[in-house]
Amino acid sequence: MGIGTSLPATRVSNSEIESFLDTSDEWIQSRTGIRERRVAEPELTLLELAARAARSALQAADLEPSAIDAVICSSSSPDATFPSLACRLQAELGCPNGPAFDLQAACSGALYGMALAQSMIQGGLCRTVLVVAAEIFSRVLDWNDRSTAVLFGDGAGAFVIGSPNQEGAQIVALDLGADGGGAWALDTIRYAPPKEPSVRARPEYTSSARALDRVVHMDGREVFRFSTKILEQIVLRLAGAARIQVDEIALVVPHQANSRILATAAGRLGFPFERFSCNVDRLGNTSSASIPLALAEADHQGRCHTGELVCLVAFGAGLTWGGVLLRWQPTGVVMDDPGDLEKSNQHSGETEEPSVPGREEISR
Ligand code: ACO
Repeated sequence: MGIGTSLPATRVSNSEIESFLDTSDEWIQSRTGIRERRVAEPELTLLELAARAARSALQAADLEPSAIDAVICSSSSPDATFPSLACRLQAELGCPNGPAFDLQAACSGALYGMALAQSMIQGGLCRTVLVVAAEIFSRVLDWNDRSTAVLFGDGAGAFVIGSPNQEGAQIVALDLGADGGGAWALDTIRYAPPKEPSVRARPEYTSSARALDRVVHMDGREVFRFSTKILEQIVLRLAGAARIQVDEIALVVPHQANSRILATAAGRLGFPFERFSCNVDRLGNTSSASIPLALAEADHQGRCHTGELVCLVAFGAGLTWGGVLLRWQPTGVVMDDPGDLEKSNQHSGETEEPSVPGREEISR
Protein backbone atom coordinates (compact mmCIF):
# COMPACT_ATOMS: atom_id res chain seq x y z
CA MET A 1 0.00 0.00 0.00
CA GLY A 2 1.11 3.57 -0.66
CA ILE A 3 -0.64 6.71 0.59
CA GLY A 4 -0.51 10.21 -0.91
CA THR A 5 -2.24 13.46 -0.02
CA SER A 6 -2.69 16.94 -1.40
CA LEU A 7 -4.10 20.18 0.01
CA PRO A 8 -4.79 23.61 -1.50
CA ALA A 9 -2.41 26.19 0.00
CA THR A 10 -5.13 28.71 0.99
CA ARG A 11 -6.27 28.57 4.62
CA VAL A 12 -9.56 30.12 5.64
CA SER A 13 -9.89 30.78 9.36
CA ASN A 14 -13.12 31.02 11.32
CA SER A 15 -12.50 34.74 11.77
CA GLU A 16 -12.41 35.25 8.00
CA ILE A 17 -15.79 33.54 7.74
CA GLU A 18 -17.03 35.82 10.53
CA SER A 19 -16.30 38.76 8.22
CA PHE A 20 -19.11 37.86 5.79
CA LEU A 21 -21.38 35.37 7.59
CA ASP A 22 -23.41 35.69 10.78
CA THR A 23 -21.30 33.29 12.83
CA SER A 24 -18.43 33.33 15.31
CA ASP A 25 -15.15 31.55 15.91
CA GLU A 26 -16.45 30.62 19.36
CA TRP A 27 -19.64 29.00 17.94
CA ILE A 28 -17.75 27.05 15.26
CA GLN A 29 -15.00 25.81 17.59
CA SER A 30 -17.32 24.83 20.41
CA ARG A 31 -19.81 22.96 18.14
CA THR A 32 -17.38 21.37 15.66
CA GLY A 33 -13.76 21.69 16.83
CA ILE A 34 -12.88 23.39 13.51
CA ARG A 35 -10.43 26.34 13.58
CA GLU A 36 -9.60 26.60 9.89
CA ARG A 37 -10.00 24.78 6.58
CA ARG A 38 -8.27 24.77 3.21
CA VAL A 39 -10.11 26.29 0.27
CA ALA A 40 -9.14 25.68 -3.38
CA GLU A 41 -7.93 28.71 -5.28
CA PRO A 42 -10.28 29.60 -8.23
CA GLU A 43 -7.83 28.25 -10.81
CA LEU A 44 -7.27 24.90 -9.04
CA THR A 45 -9.34 22.11 -10.62
CA LEU A 46 -10.46 18.94 -8.88
CA LEU A 47 -8.47 16.99 -11.48
CA GLU A 48 -5.27 18.81 -10.54
CA LEU A 49 -5.85 18.30 -6.81
CA ALA A 50 -6.60 14.60 -7.39
CA ALA A 51 -3.55 14.19 -9.64
CA ARG A 52 -1.24 15.66 -6.99
CA ALA A 53 -2.48 13.17 -4.39
CA ALA A 54 -2.27 10.29 -6.90
CA ARG A 55 1.32 11.15 -7.88
CA SER A 56 2.25 11.27 -4.18
CA ALA A 57 0.67 7.82 -3.63
CA LEU A 58 2.58 6.39 -6.62
CA GLN A 59 5.81 7.84 -5.24
CA ALA A 60 4.96 6.37 -1.81
CA ALA A 61 4.37 2.94 -3.38
CA ASP A 62 7.54 3.29 -5.48
CA LEU A 63 5.60 2.69 -8.71
CA GLU A 64 5.39 4.13 -12.21
CA PRO A 65 1.87 5.04 -13.46
CA SER A 66 2.06 2.17 -15.97
CA ALA A 67 1.95 -0.32 -13.06
CA ILE A 68 -1.63 0.74 -12.22
CA ASP A 69 -4.28 -1.49 -13.77
CA ALA A 70 -7.44 0.17 -12.42
CA VAL A 71 -8.34 3.70 -11.27
CA ILE A 72 -11.25 4.33 -8.88
CA CYS A 73 -12.17 7.89 -7.86
CA SER A 74 -14.52 9.16 -5.20
CA SER A 75 -15.87 12.70 -5.17
CA SER A 76 -19.08 14.40 -4.09
CA SER A 77 -17.91 17.64 -5.68
CA PRO A 78 -16.94 16.69 -9.27
CA ASP A 79 -16.32 19.38 -11.90
CA ALA A 80 -18.47 17.40 -14.39
CA THR A 81 -21.06 14.62 -14.39
CA PHE A 82 -19.08 12.87 -17.12
CA PRO A 83 -16.51 11.92 -18.25
CA SER A 84 -15.53 10.56 -14.86
CA LEU A 85 -12.75 12.06 -12.78
CA ALA A 86 -11.10 8.61 -12.92
CA CYS A 87 -10.93 8.60 -16.75
CA ARG A 88 -9.51 12.11 -16.86
CA LEU A 89 -7.04 11.21 -14.11
CA GLN A 90 -5.96 8.09 -15.99
CA ALA A 91 -5.06 10.27 -19.00
CA GLU A 92 -3.45 12.95 -16.82
CA LEU A 93 -1.19 10.45 -15.04
CA GLY A 94 -0.46 8.25 -18.06
CA CYS A 95 -1.70 4.94 -16.70
CA PRO A 96 -3.73 3.57 -19.64
CA ASN A 97 -4.28 0.00 -18.40
CA GLY A 98 -7.58 -1.38 -17.16
CA PRO A 99 -10.88 0.17 -16.04
CA ALA A 100 -11.36 3.68 -14.67
CA PHE A 101 -14.56 4.83 -12.98
CA ASP A 102 -15.99 7.05 -10.25
CA LEU A 103 -18.02 5.81 -7.32
CA GLN A 104 -20.47 7.88 -5.29
CA ALA A 105 -20.66 6.99 -1.61
CA ALA A 106 -20.17 10.53 -0.24
CA CYS A 107 -17.87 10.65 2.82
CA SER A 108 -17.56 6.83 2.80
CA GLY A 109 -16.12 6.89 -0.75
CA ALA A 110 -12.45 6.23 0.07
CA LEU A 111 -13.33 3.11 2.08
CA TYR A 112 -15.83 1.89 -0.54
CA GLY A 113 -12.96 2.32 -3.02
CA MET A 114 -10.49 0.40 -0.86
CA ALA A 115 -12.96 -2.46 -0.38
CA LEU A 116 -13.73 -2.59 -4.10
CA ALA A 117 -10.01 -2.54 -4.98
CA GLN A 118 -9.33 -5.39 -2.58
CA SER A 119 -12.20 -7.45 -4.09
CA MET A 120 -11.02 -6.75 -7.65
CA ILE A 121 -7.52 -7.92 -6.71
CA GLN A 122 -8.79 -11.02 -4.90
CA GLY A 123 -11.07 -11.82 -7.85
CA GLY A 124 -8.10 -11.76 -10.23
CA LEU A 125 -9.32 -8.75 -12.26
CA CYS A 126 -6.41 -6.48 -11.30
CA ARG A 127 -3.13 -6.52 -9.40
CA THR A 128 -2.60 -2.88 -8.48
CA VAL A 129 -5.41 -0.37 -8.03
CA LEU A 130 -5.23 3.41 -7.52
CA VAL A 131 -8.02 4.73 -5.29
CA VAL A 132 -8.32 8.55 -5.17
CA ALA A 133 -10.73 10.59 -3.03
CA ALA A 134 -10.76 14.28 -3.96
CA GLU A 135 -13.09 17.06 -2.88
CA ILE A 136 -13.55 20.76 -3.53
CA PHE A 137 -16.57 21.16 -1.28
CA SER A 138 -16.15 24.93 -1.19
CA ARG A 139 -17.73 24.90 -4.67
CA VAL A 140 -20.89 23.02 -3.64
CA LEU A 141 -21.60 24.99 -0.48
CA ASP A 142 -24.13 27.75 -0.06
CA TRP A 143 -21.85 30.32 1.60
CA ASN A 144 -24.94 32.18 2.79
CA ASP A 145 -25.96 29.14 4.87
CA ARG A 146 -24.06 29.31 8.14
CA SER A 147 -25.29 25.87 9.20
CA THR A 148 -23.23 24.13 6.47
CA ALA A 149 -20.67 26.65 5.15
CA VAL A 150 -18.51 26.55 8.27
CA LEU A 151 -18.14 22.75 8.31
CA PHE A 152 -16.32 21.72 5.16
CA GLY A 153 -12.86 22.01 3.59
CA ASP A 154 -11.03 20.96 0.40
CA GLY A 155 -8.36 18.28 -0.06
CA ALA A 156 -7.46 14.95 -1.65
CA GLY A 157 -5.96 11.62 -0.64
CA ALA A 158 -5.00 8.47 -2.54
CA PHE A 159 -4.18 4.82 -1.87
CA VAL A 160 -2.26 2.39 -4.06
CA ILE A 161 -3.68 -1.01 -3.15
CA GLY A 162 -1.71 -4.14 -4.10
CA SER A 163 1.65 -2.50 -4.69
CA PRO A 164 4.18 -5.12 -5.86
CA ASN A 165 7.15 -3.08 -4.58
CA GLN A 166 5.95 -2.47 -1.06
CA GLU A 167 3.57 -4.62 0.92
CA GLY A 168 2.59 -1.99 3.49
CA ALA A 169 -0.49 -2.14 5.74
CA GLN A 170 -2.68 -5.22 5.24
CA ILE A 171 -6.49 -5.27 5.12
CA VAL A 172 -7.75 -7.64 7.84
CA ALA A 173 -11.52 -7.00 7.74
CA LEU A 174 -14.06 -4.91 5.81
CA ASP A 175 -17.55 -3.64 6.56
CA LEU A 176 -19.70 -1.68 4.08
CA GLY A 177 -23.34 -0.66 4.29
CA ALA A 178 -26.04 1.81 3.31
CA ASP A 179 -29.50 2.93 4.41
CA GLY A 180 -31.23 4.85 1.64
CA GLY A 181 -34.11 5.54 4.01
CA GLY A 182 -31.93 8.23 5.58
CA ALA A 183 -31.08 9.96 2.29
CA TRP A 184 -33.08 13.06 3.24
CA ALA A 185 -30.78 13.90 6.18
CA LEU A 186 -27.86 14.98 4.01
CA ASP A 187 -28.41 15.90 0.37
CA THR A 188 -28.14 18.66 -2.22
CA ILE A 189 -30.87 21.15 -3.00
CA ARG A 190 -31.34 23.80 -5.69
CA TYR A 191 -29.39 26.95 -4.81
CA ALA A 192 -31.55 29.94 -3.92
CA PRO A 193 -29.60 33.23 -3.89
CA PRO A 194 -30.40 35.43 -0.87
CA LYS A 195 -33.12 38.07 -1.45
CA GLU A 196 -31.07 40.70 0.32
CA PRO A 197 -27.41 40.25 -0.52
CA SER A 198 -25.02 41.11 2.31
CA VAL A 199 -23.14 44.37 1.90
CA ARG A 200 -20.16 42.87 3.66
CA ALA A 201 -17.10 41.93 1.60
CA ARG A 202 -17.27 38.47 0.11
CA PRO A 203 -14.26 36.49 -1.00
CA GLU A 204 -14.14 34.92 -4.44
CA TYR A 205 -14.99 31.41 -3.22
CA THR A 206 -18.44 32.37 -1.89
CA SER A 207 -21.68 31.47 -3.67
CA SER A 208 -22.41 35.06 -4.69
CA ALA A 209 -19.20 35.10 -6.70
CA ARG A 210 -19.95 31.91 -8.67
CA ALA A 211 -22.70 30.24 -10.68
CA LEU A 212 -24.19 27.50 -8.52
CA ASP A 213 -26.69 24.83 -9.31
CA ARG A 214 -27.14 22.63 -6.24
CA VAL A 215 -25.76 23.07 -2.75
CA VAL A 216 -25.28 20.97 0.39
CA HIS A 217 -28.26 20.70 2.72
CA MET A 218 -28.18 18.89 6.08
CA ASP A 219 -30.22 18.02 9.12
CA GLY A 220 -27.31 18.36 11.53
CA ARG A 221 -28.98 16.67 14.49
CA GLU A 222 -30.05 13.61 12.49
CA VAL A 223 -26.55 13.29 11.00
CA PHE A 224 -25.10 13.59 14.52
CA ARG A 225 -27.32 10.76 15.81
CA PHE A 226 -26.59 8.50 12.84
CA SER A 227 -22.83 9.14 12.86
CA THR A 228 -22.20 8.46 16.54
CA LYS A 229 -24.28 5.26 16.48
CA ILE A 230 -22.88 3.83 13.25
CA LEU A 231 -19.28 4.62 14.14
CA GLU A 232 -19.57 2.46 17.26
CA GLN A 233 -21.35 -0.34 15.37
CA ILE A 234 -18.73 -0.48 12.60
CA VAL A 235 -15.86 -0.81 15.10
CA LEU A 236 -17.72 -3.61 16.92
CA ARG A 237 -18.51 -5.44 13.66
CA LEU A 238 -14.93 -5.19 12.39
CA ALA A 239 -13.63 -6.55 15.71
CA GLY A 240 -16.14 -9.43 15.46
CA ALA A 241 -15.12 -10.20 11.86
CA ALA A 242 -11.43 -10.22 12.79
CA ARG A 243 -12.12 -12.19 16.01
CA ILE A 244 -10.35 -9.67 18.19
CA GLN A 245 -11.32 -7.73 21.31
CA VAL A 246 -12.24 -4.10 20.54
CA ASP A 247 -9.56 -3.04 22.99
CA GLU A 248 -6.88 -4.56 20.72
CA ILE A 249 -7.47 -1.72 18.22
CA ALA A 250 -4.57 0.67 18.74
CA LEU A 251 -5.81 3.60 16.64
CA VAL A 252 -9.14 4.64 15.12
CA VAL A 253 -8.92 6.90 12.06
CA PRO A 254 -12.48 8.12 11.56
CA HIS A 255 -14.11 10.33 8.94
CA GLN A 256 -13.42 13.86 10.19
CA ALA A 257 -16.99 15.19 10.36
CA ASN A 258 -16.59 17.10 13.60
CA SER A 259 -14.78 16.55 16.87
CA ARG A 260 -17.97 16.29 18.96
CA ILE A 261 -19.13 13.32 16.87
CA LEU A 262 -15.73 11.68 17.35
CA ALA A 263 -15.59 12.36 21.11
CA THR A 264 -19.12 11.01 21.57
CA ALA A 265 -18.32 7.84 19.58
CA ALA A 266 -15.06 7.34 21.51
CA GLY A 267 -17.08 7.61 24.73
CA ARG A 268 -19.62 5.04 23.52
CA LEU A 269 -16.77 2.62 22.75
CA GLY A 270 -15.09 3.31 26.08
CA PHE A 271 -11.96 4.46 24.24
CA PRO A 272 -9.86 7.38 25.45
CA PHE A 273 -10.14 10.16 22.86
CA GLU A 274 -6.35 9.97 22.33
CA ARG A 275 -6.95 6.67 20.53
CA PHE A 276 -8.85 8.59 17.82
CA SER A 277 -6.93 10.43 15.15
CA CYS A 278 -8.37 13.93 14.69
CA ASN A 279 -7.31 16.71 12.31
CA VAL A 280 -10.69 18.38 11.79
CA ASP A 281 -9.40 21.42 13.70
CA ARG A 282 -7.02 22.29 10.82
CA LEU A 283 -8.79 20.84 7.78
CA GLY A 284 -12.52 20.83 8.55
CA ASN A 285 -14.62 18.09 6.98
CA THR A 286 -13.05 17.11 3.64
CA SER A 287 -15.72 14.46 2.94
CA SER A 288 -14.29 11.35 1.24
CA ALA A 289 -10.72 12.75 1.32
CA SER A 290 -10.72 12.95 5.11
CA ILE A 291 -9.66 9.37 5.92
CA PRO A 292 -6.59 9.20 3.65
CA LEU A 293 -5.62 12.70 4.87
CA ALA A 294 -6.02 11.71 8.54
CA LEU A 295 -4.27 8.35 8.10
CA ALA A 296 -1.28 9.96 6.36
CA GLU A 297 -1.03 12.50 9.17
CA ALA A 298 -1.31 9.83 11.87
CA ASP A 299 1.58 7.90 10.30
CA HIS A 300 3.60 11.11 9.88
CA GLN A 301 3.08 11.77 13.59
CA GLY A 302 4.41 8.30 14.48
CA ARG A 303 1.01 7.03 15.66
CA CYS A 304 0.87 3.93 13.38
CA HIS A 305 3.06 1.10 14.75
CA THR A 306 4.14 -2.08 12.98
CA GLY A 307 1.95 -5.06 13.89
CA GLU A 308 -0.78 -2.94 15.51
CA LEU A 309 -4.40 -2.73 14.39
CA VAL A 310 -5.59 0.54 12.83
CA CYS A 311 -9.32 0.94 12.24
CA LEU A 312 -10.63 3.25 9.48
CA VAL A 313 -14.29 4.24 9.91
CA ALA A 314 -16.45 6.32 7.54
CA PHE A 315 -20.07 7.51 7.42
CA GLY A 316 -21.84 9.92 5.13
CA ALA A 317 -24.65 10.91 2.83
CA GLY A 318 -26.73 8.12 1.36
CA LEU A 319 -26.69 7.22 4.16
CA THR A 320 -23.54 5.15 3.67
CA TRP A 321 -20.90 3.74 5.96
CA GLY A 322 -17.70 1.72 5.74
CA GLY A 323 -14.96 0.26 7.90
CA VAL A 324 -11.51 -1.15 7.11
CA LEU A 325 -9.38 -2.84 9.74
CA LEU A 326 -5.66 -2.70 8.91
CA ARG A 327 -2.72 -4.59 10.39
CA TRP A 328 -0.07 -1.86 10.15
CA GLN A 329 3.21 -2.56 8.35
CA PRO A 330 5.76 0.04 7.25
CA THR A 331 3.85 1.93 4.55
CA GLY A 332 5.03 4.60 2.14
CA VAL A 333 3.35 7.94 2.81
CA VAL A 334 3.96 11.12 0.80
CA MET A 335 2.16 14.33 1.75
CA ASP A 336 2.52 17.26 -0.65
CA ASP A 337 1.80 19.64 2.23
CA PRO A 338 2.50 18.37 5.77
CA GLY A 339 1.48 21.91 6.79
CA ASP A 340 1.79 22.70 10.46
CA LEU A 341 1.64 19.10 11.69
CA GLU A 342 4.71 19.56 13.80
CA LYS A 343 2.86 22.28 15.71
CA SER A 344 -0.29 20.18 16.14
CA ASN A 345 -1.05 19.31 19.76
CA GLN A 346 -1.64 15.61 18.95
CA HIS A 347 2.02 15.31 18.05
CA SER A 348 3.06 16.50 21.47
CA GLY A 349 0.45 14.35 23.21
CA GLU A 350 -1.50 17.37 24.42
CA THR A 351 -4.77 16.53 22.73
CA GLU A 352 -7.67 18.28 24.36
CA GLU A 353 -10.84 16.26 24.50
CA PRO A 354 -13.65 18.28 22.92
CA SER A 355 -16.73 18.82 25.00
CA VAL A 356 -19.47 16.30 24.29
CA PRO A 357 -23.09 17.43 24.12
CA GLY A 358 -25.49 15.92 26.64
CA ARG A 359 -27.84 13.15 25.43
CA GLU A 360 -30.82 15.48 25.57
CA GLU A 361 -28.96 17.87 23.31
CA ILE A 362 -28.33 15.16 20.70
CA SER A 363 -31.80 13.65 20.67
CA ARG A 364 -33.73 16.88 20.80
N1 ACO B 1 -22.90 30.09 13.62
C1 ACO B 1 -23.74 30.56 14.56
N2 ACO B 1 -24.94 30.02 14.83
C2 ACO B 1 -25.30 28.95 14.11
C3 ACO B 1 -24.48 28.41 13.09
C4 ACO B 1 -23.24 29.03 12.86
N3 ACO B 1 -22.37 28.57 11.94
N4 ACO B 1 -25.12 27.35 12.54
C5 ACO B 1 -26.30 27.24 13.17
N5 ACO B 1 -26.40 28.21 14.10
C6 ACO B 1 -27.50 28.48 15.01
C7 ACO B 1 -28.84 28.01 14.48
O1 ACO B 1 -29.41 28.95 13.61
C8 ACO B 1 -29.62 27.86 15.75
O2 ACO B 1 -30.07 29.12 16.16
P1 ACO B 1 -31.52 29.28 16.81
O3 ACO B 1 -31.47 28.48 18.08
O4 ACO B 1 -31.62 30.76 17.01
O5 ACO B 1 -32.49 28.73 15.80
C9 ACO B 1 -28.57 27.41 16.76
O6 ACO B 1 -27.29 27.76 16.21
C10 ACO B 1 -28.61 25.93 17.03
O7 ACO B 1 -28.60 25.27 15.77
P2 ACO B 1 -28.54 23.73 15.67
O8 ACO B 1 -28.50 23.29 14.25
O9 ACO B 1 -29.58 23.16 16.57
O10 ACO B 1 -27.09 23.53 16.30
P3 ACO B 1 -26.46 22.21 16.86
O11 ACO B 1 -26.16 22.40 18.28
O12 ACO B 1 -27.23 21.00 16.46
O13 ACO B 1 -25.10 22.17 16.09
C11 ACO B 1 -24.09 21.04 14.22
C12 ACO B 1 -25.08 22.11 14.65
C13 ACO B 1 -22.69 21.44 14.65
C14 ACO B 1 -24.14 20.96 12.69
C15 ACO B 1 -24.53 19.72 14.88
O14 ACO B 1 -25.86 19.41 14.58
C16 ACO B 1 -23.67 18.62 14.48
O15 ACO B 1 -22.57 18.47 14.94
N6 ACO B 1 -24.16 17.77 13.55
C17 ACO B 1 -23.41 16.76 12.94
C18 ACO B 1 -23.41 17.02 11.51
C19 ACO B 1 -22.06 17.28 10.92
O16 ACO B 1 -21.09 17.67 11.52
N7 ACO B 1 -22.02 17.01 9.67
C20 ACO B 1 -20.84 17.12 8.93
C21 ACO B 1 -21.11 16.80 7.55
S1 ACO B 1 -21.90 15.29 7.36
C22 ACO B 1 -20.79 14.09 7.29
O17 ACO B 1 -19.65 14.32 7.12
C23 ACO B 1 -21.27 12.73 7.40
